[in-house]
Amino acid sequence: MDAMEAILSRRSIRKYKTAPIDESIIQELLEAAMSAPSSSNRQPWHFVIITDRQNLDEIPKFHPYSNMVKEAPLAIIVCGDLRLEQGRGVWVQDCSAATENILIAANANGLGAVWLGVYPLEERITGLRVLLGLPDHIVPLCIVVVGYPAEKKPPANRFNPERIHRNKW
Ligand SMILES: Cc1cc2nc3c(=O)[nH]c(=O)nc-3n(C[C@H](O)[C@H](O)[C@H](O)COP(=O)(O)O)c2cc1C
Repeated sequence: MDAMEAILSRRSIRKYKTAPIDESIIQELLEAAMSAPSSSNRQPWHFVIITDRQNLDEIPKFHPYSNMVKEAPLAIIVCGDLRLEQGRGVWVQDCSAATENILIAANANGLGAVWLGVYPLEERITGLRVLLGLPDHIVPLCIVVVGYPAEKKPPANRFNPERIHRNKW
């Protein structure tokens, strides 16, 4: 799959087969994540890999739109590091770029994935803080749920010429 195909065919996949995901593929997803651009190249991110069934099943107890996790073999928690970011207010952008790279790399590897929002919702942040024992300077941005897809979705094709402005609004 070339880069454009991986981007254009990416969809949120919420049904998964039970098959586990090989460590080499998890490594590839993390390489994609950490190749993202970041403000002043500070790379203010950490990634918590959850494959433990008990831990995965805890997530829907504090995240209301995450039931698909109960069938998924893997969740990647994308976190911002406020110490590395040094109060510049850009960690969300940096970590979002990393998250999108994970989604595209998952699609390119034949995996299905979905981005679950966490930050800035306190209940979800606290839920992950407690579950994972996150230190205070680490803030979870989102959960990327990953698995081999048990559903198919066509490309969304959201191209909208009305949203394009040339040279002036
Ligand atoms: C910031 C953010 C938060 C999201 N949170 C959730 C969520 O909590 N649960 C969920 O099932 N999908 C979530 N999504 C996925 C969106 O629903 C999905 O991307 C959108 O409907 C477009 O569909 P597509 O990804 O298939 O193109 C989230 C996406 C983003 C970018």
